[in-house]
Amino acid sequence: MFETLKKATLDKIFVLMAEYAADPRTGKIDLGVGVYKDPGNNTPIMSAVKKAEQRILDGARTKTYKGVVGNKEFSAAIVDLALANTVEASRIRCVNGAGGTGALMILMHVLGRARPGGRIFISDPTWPNHIPLAENAGLEVHYYPYFDPRSRAVDFDAMIKVIDGLNSNDTILLHGCCHNPTGANLTPAQWDRVVESLRRTGAFPLVDLAYLGFGDGIEADAYGVRKVATSVPECMIAFSASKNFGLYRERAGVAIAIARDSETADVVSSQMQNIIRGTISQTPDHGAEVVRVILEDKDLRAEWEAELTEMRERMKRLRVKLADAIRQRSNSKDFDFIAQHSGMFSLLGLPEAVVTKLKLDDAIYMINDSRINVAGIPEDRVGELADKLLAAIR
Ligand SMILES: Cc1ncc(COP(=O)(O)O)c(C=O)c1O
Repeated sequence: MFETLKKATLDKIFVLMAEYAADPRTGKIDLGVGVYKDPGNNTPIMSAVKKAEQRILDGARTKTYKGVVGNKEFSAAIVDLALANTVEASRIRCVNGAGGTGALMILMHVLGRARPGGRIFISDPTWPNHIPLAENAGLEVHYYPYFDPRSRAVDFDAMIKVIDGLNSNDTILLHGCCHNPTGANLTPAQWDRVVESLRRTGAFPLVDLAYLGFGDGIEADAYGVRKVATSVPECMIAFSASKNFGLYRERAGVAIAIARDSETADVVSSQMQNIIRGTISQTPDHGAEVVRVILEDKDLRAEWEAELTEMRERMKRLRVKLADAIRQRSNSKDFDFIAQHSGMFSLLGLPEAVVTKLKLDDAIYMINDSRINVAGIPEDRVGELADKLLAAIR
């Protein structure tokens, strides 16, 4: 039977992770995988998470099924965090997803059912998994330009030109903040302009919110998603708690649908539940419950916010240090964009041959498209990293 199968291609990031793990060189640098790293190069469990887990462990009385919609209090806490009461609750319906990917999977399938074969416009470039997620739901993938490879900033003129040309049968996928892979983000004024266009064309927005709080703080990072949610009659949001709560393997996420009225919202909810039932039946609860406990408890919430702030500020500091080190050595502002970007990533705009050379000669690992995870920059070796980057591009 298996002889009928062809070998499927794995996401390149897993190949890179395996190569990095197998590299015997001491002093190797991992700027590849998209997880937060602390100064010791570890991806720690946040202390608020540890405390919440202990409470859950002490208080747990059952492991019975939670139900198809998952942990409702977790969903409510996330809606509150992301939207802060800006949208009438009767129009909102949620189900848990297995991580942000699971939330996207559910929402893409809702789109696929509502508009079989419909067009979805995705930023070029984007997080690679957006494409199979959309295709698996039967959507037709199209792109809008996003990144100017020369300035390494958002190419807003090119982007808005395509968005202005969408129609009411189209869907647009927007990164809520901390764009992956580029690190270049829309300003509030640019979000306003995008929303003005969506109101005019009627194109349907799906916002992927995987890094809330990793860019400029929860409120600032929520500007775009709140602008969208409060301005158009219907939209969807995929929330991930993987990065901002450090819960990667626990698979905590929420699929949020905002409909024009409560009756329509009920229909969407039934579709989301039907999709879960026919695929994974129930979503994992541990990570969801951890987030619920943290967000519902004043002290744990304050502790989590402080830890998130520390992570964000560390990433910002590493950005500034690397940009400064490159500027001092090269006497040019060509890499200043690293300090202007926000979130966990920056797309350096290096040719693939340079990326390969850095890996082979210097044991510096980054994604083929030259995306770096700034949290992986070793703070005490920024100068050495700048030297090696500059030597590789000369
Ligand atoms: C843009 C984007 N969306 C969604 C996700 C989904 O994350 P997860 O499924 O691990 O919660 C990621 C993870 O890397 C991402 O970068």
